[in-house]
Amino acid sequence: MSGPVNVRLSDDGKAVIIVDQSALPGELRYLRLETLDEMYEAVKTLRVRGAPAIGVFAGFALCALSAGMDKDADFKNRFLEAAERLSSSRPTAVNLSWACRRMTEACSRAICSGSEIDAALLAECTSIYEEDVFMCSAISSYGLSLLKPGMGVLTHCNAGPLATSRYGTALGPLILAAEKGIPIRVYADETRPLLQGARLTAYELMEAGVDVTLICDDMASWVMSRGLVDACFVGCDTVALNGDTANKIGTSAVAILAKHYGIPFYVLGPTSTIDPSCRTGSDIRIEMRPWEEITSLYYSRPVAPEGVKCLNPSFDVTEASLISGIITQHGIALPPFEESLPALIKK
Ligand code: MRU
Repeated sequence: MSGPVNVRLSDDGKAVIIVDQSALPGELRYLRLETLDEMYEAVKTLRVRGAPAIGVFAGFALCALSAGMDKDADFKNRFLEAAERLSSSRPTAVNLSWACRRMTEACSRAICSGSEIDAALLAECTSIYEEDVFMCSAISSYGLSLLKPGMGVLTHCNAGPLATSRYGTALGPLILAAEKGIPIRVYADETRPLLQGARLTAYELMEAGVDVTLICDDMASWVMSRGLVDACFVGCDTVALNGDTANKIGTSAVAILAKHYGIPFYVLGPTSTIDPSCRTGSDIRIEMRPWEEITSLYYSRPVAPEGVKCLNPSFDVTEASLISGIITQHGIALPPFEESLPALIKK
């Protein structure tokens, strides 16, 4: 598969180049980000988004920032501060803090052993990227094993190539199916309020030649009730040790509907999204976002009265009991997840 490279280190190693996802599908715009402020803003405003992609981005960003820093006595403090700030830009996607931690540990190891710091950081962020490419291919293949020609799959938000380094997680099997000529029908929830489904999933699946139909979030029950959906595939931002999973707001409603209609509901994501510090979903931190994303963003005029009170949680937690399987790069974890997930993490 080919397509825009969503995140990469610049050729001079001093910046990160991203596809500005906030401009899609209208414009394919690339941004060169050089400063910590620019990098922080890009994650915060979802110019770069999707749990694995922001992990890969953080690796490249810290590598580029280090390249521009004097390696004096204060270097380590400045590097750790940059990692902490970047890590704080979005709290729910655990891949972000995971990648920042990998980079700070690589930095500490290089300092302790007296090796070249920038070379060590370049090697670490390259590994994070390459592991992401591998995990996307593996997850796509495991996901494909669950699909049969003619099936209908419902997805929520965007977990495709833009959100990762290659095929994607939830969209990976669907794109792989199209490459192999296996016909699959996909229903993409538009995903209010930031419309990742309408703007990004519809765009990516159309580009990949997948038969995609866009629906409003509140139409999921309608398509399920008519027998059009055989499985749900969604991504994840944090998976707790018991299998409770945080993903884009609205995901838990899809899972509840799927249970009602007897449709299997799968979560797809790398083992780096499993957070061992979260025993259950109630330990997961949910990001709250600005109200204007509901009242006016993406609309030529406001859709709600000025000053109305809103609530804008960006993620919700789907209870493990609603999940049929968690598809990772090391295989498919089945319930009870308390047993199957730790075994997969060890791999
Ligand atoms: O707020 P976003 O757009 O970053 O939310 C993204 C999601 O919820 C995705 O489903 C998740 O990060 C998995 S991406 C492979």
